[in-house]
Amino acid sequence: MTKANVRTVLLLNGPNLGQLGEREPDVYGSTTLQEIVSMCQAEAHKCGLALEAHQSDSESELIGWVQQAARNSWPIIINPGAFTHYSIALRDALVQVDAAVIEVHLSQPAARESFRAESVVAPVVYGTISGFGSLSYLLAVRAIADVLAS
Ligand code: DQA
Repeated sequence: MTKANVRTVLLLNGPNLGQLGEREPDVYGSTTLQEIVSMCQAEAHKCGLALEAHQSDSESELIGWVQQAARNSWPIIINPGAFTHYSIALRDALVQVDAAVIEVHLSQPAARESFRAESVVAPVVYGTISGFGSLSYLLAVRAIADVLAS
């Protein structure tokens, strides 16, 4: 495959996910975000995809990257962190992406506190993968590759 044909996938991580490794390891595991990104990049490469990753604690920065993906028809893998449960602005940005969007979570939010039961982004994404720890991200890369190949 030539470089020009390599499809870019955006991996976005929301608030507090830069703290992975140290943040509540009993809930989120001990793998750092950098390790997850490297793992996803290797998997994407195997699938003939390029993976660009960003993390931000800021809703506005995340929305900017989503809008960039919408302009370029890039698929997105996103863990919106706590924004999952209340950011209508992020949901409104994601709905503009015509490529596949996959929502990922390390934990299984529905099995935790009641305020985590609702995802306001779930109705506008292609699919959700949650509860598998860092494997959730890897499964999302494979899912995107499958969707693009179908
Ligand atoms: C999370 C679940 C959210 O409820 C929480 O706010 C996070 C992480 C997860 O990956 O399990 O920050 O998205």
